[in-house]
Amino acid sequence: MIPGVNYRVIPGAPQLNLDTDELARDYDRISATRQFEFGKQLVADLGIRPGERVLDIGSGTGLLAHHIAEVVGPSGRVHGIDPLPSRIHIALDRARNRSNLSFEVSDVYDLAHLRDQSYDVIVANSVFHWLPDKTPALLTFWRLLRPAGRIGISTVAKGPRLPMQEIVSAVLSEPPFDRYPRARESLTFKVDAEEMRALFEMTGFAPSLIDVRPVEQNYATAEQAVRFLEASSFGNFLGHLPTDLVYRARVTILRRLAGIATEQGIVQQRGRLVAIAHRR
Ligand SMILES: C[S@@+](CC[C@H](N)C(=O)[O-])C[C@H]1O[C@@H](n2cnc3c(N)ncnc32)[C@H](O)[C@@H]1O
Repeated sequence: MIPGVNYRVIPGAPQLNLDTDELARDYDRISATRQFEFGKQLVADLGIRPGERVLDIGSGTGLLAHHIAEVVGPSGRVHGIDPLPSRIHIALDRARNRSNLSFEVSDVYDLAHLRDQSYDVIVANSVFHWLPDKTPALLTFWRLLRPAGRIGISTVAKGPRLPMQEIVSAVLSEPPFDRYPRARESLTFKVDAEEMRALFEMTGFAPSLIDVRPVEQNYATAEQAVRFLEASSFGNFLGHLPTDLVYRARVTILRRLAGIATEQGIVQQRGRLVAIAHRR
C-alpha cells in the first residue's frame, strides 16, 4: 500500500491525498480547543492507567497521543497511526524526547504488521465517522487488543443536517458547482447509538457505554468555520471540485455562512457519540 494514495473502492470514501502541510498545521492549532477536549474526556471515560499499552487510531498531529503518553507514564507506551504524512510529521516532532510515544504513517485498513493482542486500549477520537467500512476496522481492533482490552470511540453522531451543512449542500447543488457532484452528499460515514451497539456485538465487543452527548459547535466567523471544515476533512471539504472552482465555491459559502452568524458567531448543536466496549 502506498501511503496517501486513495486505493479504496467505496464510493465517497475520503481521499487521503488532498492534505497539505498548511492544513495539518491549521488542524493542530484548531483541534487544540475542540477535538482534543473530546479526546481527553474519552481518555478519562476509558480510565486509562499508568503502564497501559495504547494504540491511537487516526492520531492526526498527535496532541491526544502525547496526552495519553503522560497518563500511561514511562512504564506504558502509546503508538499512533495515521495515513496523512503531514500530520504524522508534526506528531513525530511531538514525540521527540518521549521514549514511550511513537507514530507511523499507516491506514486502519492496513495494520497487518501490528501484532495480535499487543494493546490494552485502543482509542479512536474524531476518526470513526471518517471510516467508510466499520466492520473490518472493528475486527482489526479486536485482533490487536488483548482479551478484555478496551476500545474507546468518540465521534460525530448521525443526526439531522445542521445549518452549516444545509448551506454547503445548497451552494454545491447550484451551477457551476453542480457539474461536479460529490460521490455522496456527506463526506463522512456517521452511525447512531443503535448502529454502534450492533457493530460492537457483531465484531466481538461488549459495550459498557454508548452515549450521545449534546455539543455546541461555535465559530467566531465564517472564515473560522470554513478553515475548520477544510483542516478537519484533510482537504476533502471542496476537494472534489476542479481547482478553478474551489475559490469560487469557498467565497460563496463564506458569504452565505456570514448570513447566519449572530453576535455569538455561528453556533450549532450536534450530537457526539461516545462508545466504550471491551473485547470478549
Ligand atoms: C478529525 S481528525 C482526528 C485526529 C485526532 N484523532 C484528534 O483527536 O485530533 C481525523 C483523522 O482521521 C484520520 N483517518 C482518516 N481515514 C483514516 C483511515 N482509513 N485510517 C486511519 N486514520 C484515518 C485522518 O487522517 C485524520 O488525521
